[in-house]
Amino acid sequence: MYEPLYRPRRLRSSETVRRMVRETTLSPDNFIYPLFVTHGRNVKKEISSMPGNYQQSVDNLVKDCEETFRLGIPAVILFGIPEHKDEVGSEAYSDEGIVQHAIKAIKHKMPDLVVITDVCLCEYTSHGHCGIIKHGVVQNDETLDLLAREAVSHAKAGADMVAPSDMMDGRVGAIREALDQTGFSQTPIMAYAAKYASGFYGPFREAAESTPQFGDRRSYQMDPPNRREAIREVTLDIEEGADIVMVKPALSYLDIIREVKDNFNLPVAAYNVSGEYSMVKAGAKLGWIDGDRVMMEILMSIRRAGADMILTYHAKEAARLING
Ligand code: PBG
Repeated sequence: MYEPLYRPRRLRSSETVRRMVRETTLSPDNFIYPLFVTHGRNVKKEISSMPGNYQQSVDNLVKDCEETFRLGIPAVILFGIPEHKDEVGSEAYSDEGIVQHAIKAIKHKMPDLVVITDVCLCEYTSHGHCGIIKHGVVQNDETLDLLAREAVSHAKAGADMVAPSDMMDGRVGAIREALDQTGFSQTPIMAYAAKYASGFYGPFREAAESTPQFGDRRSYQMDPPNRREAIREVTLDIEEGADIVMVKPALSYLDIIREVKDNFNLPVAAYNVSGEYSMVKAGAKLGWIDGDRVMMEILMSIRRAGADMILTYHAKEAARLING
């Protein structure tokens, strides 16, 4: 009978031993919790395709932030649902916009919670695209100015960090320059650096009411088959002044997360996007998978791939499991 010389099972014999040799950790410290803010009072409307996530008015949002911080999660990222949309996404960069109000309310109550804002126009434009349109085409350089105004307006309201997700060329540089010129040289930029045109954003577009009214986002978001291009995108964003670089989505792009981690020395974020979340919830509801177990395995895999931080709708439930 063959007797193996080395027996890896020796180090798997009990949970205590497994704990000793575990290579990757997962903590609430790693999470950033996405939140959707809407106008009104006492609004808490569940997003049907993302159970457990809501469009909330500022009063309820602040309560949610308090719960999030109590669970040990250091940061939230805000998405706004404006009262009115128009061609140029005016509410995105209005000092009276919904996100600007939310930032002030949150920071007033909880100065230590890190408030990150998504900087993009798609939630605010009537056509649902991430930039302004001329002749049916999303205009790059004309959009930069609006994105820079949006970022400055968020910083003025008290945002701790801004996160451009539009994928226009040069937006990190434009935002960095605008922040520096307005006294916000200490406000970091978390760049959605390698952001792919993905079917996994489906449920988010219901949540943020940001579905493009014509065409799609393939002329600005990255083509899923491309890997070397992700390195170019990340390189550009770092040269333009990004402080943290993000890969999005996470699950189908774990190879990209690893590549970015190995090639650069900045903190790496990964966005565990809406469709990834909804699939777990749907599978669990059907009784086909153990939702909690699969959630933890997914989050751990994103960490193992190299993400320092994970933007995830699972943040609160995962933190509860970790905290025990
Ligand atoms: C805005 C934006 C999107 C997401 C984050 N910021 C949608 C998109 O690009 O279509 C997706 C987040 C998710 O699916 O959870 N540009």
